Amino acid sequence: MASSEQPRAQWLGRWGFLLAATGSAVGLGNVWKFPYMTGEYGGGAFVLVYLICILAVGVPVMMAEIAFGRRGQGSPVDAFRRMATGSGRSPAWSVLGWMSMLAGFMILSFYVVVAGWSFSYLWKTLSGGLSGGSVDELAAVFEANNANPWNLGFWSTLVTLVTMVIVGKGVQEGIEKSVRWMMPGLVLMLVVLIGFGALSGGFGEAFAFLFSFNTGSLSSAGMLAALGHAFFTLSLAAGAILTYGSYLPKTASIGRTTLGVALADTLVALMAGLAIFPVIFANGMDPAGGPGLIFMSLPVAFQAMPLGSLFGALFFIMLSMAALTSSISMVEATVSWLCDNKGFTRRSAAWSTGIVLWLISTAAMLSFNVGADWTLAGKTFFDWLDYLTSRWLMPLGGLGTIFVAGFLLNKNVMRDELGLGPRFYALWLLMARYVSPLGILVIFADVLGLYSVVFAQHWPYLLGVLLLMILVGERLSPRLRQALAPR
Ligand code: PFF
Repeated sequence: MASSEQPRAQWLGRWGFLLAATGSAVGLGNVWKFPYMTGEYGGGAFVLVYLICILAVGVPVMMAEIAFGRRGQGSPVDAFRRMATGSGRSPAWSVLGWMSMLAGFMILSFYVVVAGWSFSYLWKTLSGGLSGGSVDELAAVFEANNANPWNLGFWSTLVTLVTMVIVGKGVQEGIEKSVRWMMPGLVLMLVVLIGFGALSGGFGEAFAFLFSFNTGSLSSAGMLAALGHAFFTLSLAAGAILTYGSYLPKTASIGRTTLGVALADTLVALMAGLAIFPVIFANGMDPAGGPGLIFMSLPVAFQAMPLGSLFGALFFIMLSMAALTSSISMVEATVSWLCDNKGFTRRSAAWSTGIVLWLISTAAMLSFNVGADWTLAGKTFFDWLDYLTSRWLMPLGGLGTIFVAGFLLNKNVMRDELGLGPRFYALWLLMARYVSPLGILVIFADVLGLYSVVFAQHWPYLLGVLLLMILVGERLSPRLRQALAPR
């Protein structure tokens, strides 16, 4: 209980939270995953749905998370318990906090492996290990990099170590100071790469690919992928944003801050698209190249450019930095829980978490070599970590969070904490009660195989369902409250 007597740490400056939360949101999801998903799901149509999901689902959930963190003043477990009991609800709602801590931990266990790819490619670029290869040769390099567990394990261990060193240094010293220079550096390097792309010929095609909204290619699989990715890219329901919110000063506006983070995250994703696709198109590569898109094909493109190894190095530095500012945020919930409840110092909390994480991530890393055959239902351990978090834990956690925020808390709690004017508060409530849950429920319907039966080709019916939900919800909500009220 040692640290409960001390005032909770706060971000240093006005920009502290915005930088750190943006650093958490902007990561491999933006620079590695968003471009390859856009390539896979047909470009502009995917981008459009993704943008709608960020606004309609991501923003309301993020506002609730930050509010819970700031008002609950603790790790996700403590914050959910305090918020629920403060409104006369069961302390069992802290299960949502446990779920989010678990999600953050599980995501990090496979995230450090992908971040390790980025670190190793930076090293390869600097040491000349990538020069002179054709597309096929570079695909073989990617496979060889994965095939050797000692090699891959070295890089993911390095990512884990760096993450824990930064986290161990604390909120202001470690996280805020690192993000302060990492984020502007990232944007600068993207601008340089976009500038290069603009001169290199593939830019027009890339722009059209990203921004021509051809609704014909709007598949239900693409819609679902976009929705799931909105959660992932904004770091929602994984403890990160909530815990960062617990260090947010009372004077900051949650609405404006959230919009700032969501905007920055979206801009970086689009910038990454504009940086990567010109290179792909100018070199006649396939945009639907899948998860290996960056690692297998970009080095080929970099070699075709003047100053290519410099641009290659800049790119992988950028990707590694983006990964680190996200990975540090994923452990913050667990570390803050250990410090608040178990009397750990920050440093010992970081190292203990790091050891457990290292064991799980090593198992995930083995999925690419000696453990490639250890599958369950066709998925490796690495795949399971990704699948369970993005399909189950994050959407379920997000749904729970907005259910508590939208229906269960005393009337003025969210209104006070969000600090919105009456119109914006009403808009948030509408989104939190109906629009966001509907989006999340669509994911579940798909997982259960119901989505295609109910909505395939008829997604405008969702609007009807939304109206029905509002009607029923608003009629029932006083009764719902009474039914759920403590006796
Ligand atoms: N938002 C990060 C990205 O786009 O790479 C991933 C992430 C970070 C997910 C933190 C969850 C989290 F808690």
